[in-house]
Amino acid sequence: MKTIFSGIQPSGTITLGNYIGAMKQFVDLQHEYNCYFCIVDQHAITVPQDRLVLRRNIKNLAALYIASGIDPTKATLFVQSEVPAHAQAGWMLQCVSYIGELERMTQFKDKSIGKEAVSAGLLTYPPLMAADILLYNTDLVPVGEDQKQHLELTRDLAERFNKKYSEIFTIPDIRIAEVGARIMSLQEPTKKMSKSDPNQKALISLLDDPKQIEKKIKSAVTDSDGIVKFNKQEKPGISNLISIYSILSGKQITEIEGMYEGKGYGVFKAELANVVVEAITPIQEKYFSLVDSKELDDILDEGAAKANSVAIKMLKKMENAMGLGRKRK
Ligand code: TYM
Repeated sequence: MKTIFSGIQPSGTITLGNYIGAMKQFVDLQHEYNCYFCIVDQHAITVPQDRLVLRRNIKNLAALYIASGIDPTKATLFVQSEVPAHAQAGWMLQCVSYIGELERMTQFKDKSIGKEAVSAGLLTYPPLMAADILLYNTDLVPVGEDQKQHLELTRDLAERFNKKYSEIFTIPDIRIAEVGARIMSLQEPTKKMSKSDPNQKALISLLDDPKQIEKKIKSAVTDSDGIVKFNKQEKPGISNLISIYSILSGKQITEIEGMYEGKGYGVFKAELANVVVEAITPIQEKYFSLVDSKELDDILDEGAAKANSVAIKMLKKMENAMGLGRKRK
């Protein structure tokens, strides 16, 4: 069985974008691959976090993974900081990275723009992400489109390490879904939907209630021609909503266009709200029954134990390859 690794930051309640671009894919893939799904809390602290809120978000995200359909008897679900090999391997991979290539990362540029001070961790975030992936001999990494550049860097770092030190890393492939790889903001449809967007109207959180969902979809920015037609360049707002409809309902885009021909945006948006509510209500029900349960803690304990036992082996190989410590491990 081939191995999959992917991660989500617990930096806010996850959005419909995270669900469609990442989690929904994970659920389908867990049957065919040996999967590791991680709550990457060490990535979250590259920008300021409130301690109590972060702790809450870690649990929330773990519960949402399972509520969305991740089966902990199939996939390994764990918290990054509970597996110390990630930070250790991340440091080694920082020493193989060049400042120039890290500064070229668009996520670093986006997140540091206009800020008076940014943490060094924000710059060295990609080698930590590479460590997450490379520790598990990962063959495939399912992500949304925004992570493509980080994945390309991961491949470069793995190849560089293999060449310079020892051929120990599997070079991972990237898997980006064809539809839904980039769900856009409801308020600025040329920008991706992001859980850290200060404008709550721009995103749908997986924990929004039906009224909030209806309101947010109703106020989503579209255009003035009133035609439900998919055209990303000329009609980014309505195209984004059609993508969401298509993925959550399983209907083809052309079928949706046909269903709403001549009906206008009001009818389409009201029915899209129903589609979204129907898709996330069962997730929310399961989430609430899990989030404060002992069952969830047990799953995360088991996940960390399994991840530790795998990661430590690769960490030792990395240390041997670089000559760290006094003797061969
Ligand atoms: P994060 O937490 O920003 O997002 C988690 C996953 O959701 C995808 N995603 C989206 N997909 C479609 N439309 C959107 N609007 C949207 N917003 C987010 C992301 O592409 C991602 O797949 N650096 C990563 C976390 C990470 C990771 C890893 C991922 C750390 N280590 C190792 C894979 C492998 C991040 O910040 O994702």
